[in-house]
Amino acid sequence: MTQHLTVVNHPLIQHKLTLMREQSTSTAVFRQLLREISQLLAYEVTDKLPMTTRRIETPLKEMDAPVLAGRKLALISILRAGNGLLDGMLELIPSARVGFVGLYRDEETLKPVQYYFKVPDHLEERMVIVVDPMLATGNSSAAAIDLMKQAGARNIRFLCLLAAPEGVARMKEAHPDVPIVTAALDEKLNDVGYILPGLGDAGDRMFGTK
Ligand code: URA
Repeated sequence: MTQHLTVVNHPLIQHKLTLMREQSTSTAVFRQLLREISQLLAYEVTDKLPMTTRRIETPLKEMDAPVLAGRKLALISILRAGNGLLDGMLELIPSARVGFVGLYRDEETLKPVQYYFKVPDHLEERMVIVVDPMLATGNSSAAAIDLMKQAGARNIRFLCLLAAPEGVARMKEAHPDVPIVTAALDEKLNDVGYILPGLGDAGDRMFGTK
């Protein structure tokens, strides 16, 4: 993956995403679908993890077999909706290190305000995948990635479920070195920063709040 934006057009992802968009979908089903999609997206976003080989013995013969190299990758969840992507990814990559960035969106300025920050050490030696389901204005994502870079990260990717063109443009301007992986690129933002057609408030839909 070298381009800035990758839309993963896999039939399973697209079908599950349609179910998630429907407003009649229950909290439990929404959460389960997000878990499933996050594992499919995790497969795509980790395509360039560094590899090495290890000498092993099969029942028949020795071989140099491929294994992941270097430090464990770091998954960074932008609270709170990022946790919905995190859970599924951790099932696939159980040894990943995990960090959290708490940012809330000031509803007037739409700008991110930080309230929590805890990330793994040695970020400079890890692939760092920042996760947040909705890339809307891009302000939170760009701010979270600023914080990752300040903490030393150099190999960063951003994983989301839905992206708006405005958010992609903002990220490209702020962090052209950070590839984005998403399940869909939607039309635009509405006047309060929600993605259209979107799926509503991802945090509310996965946690059953209003
Ligand atoms: N955050 C959400 O949860 N939904 C949007 O549409 C935009 C930001």
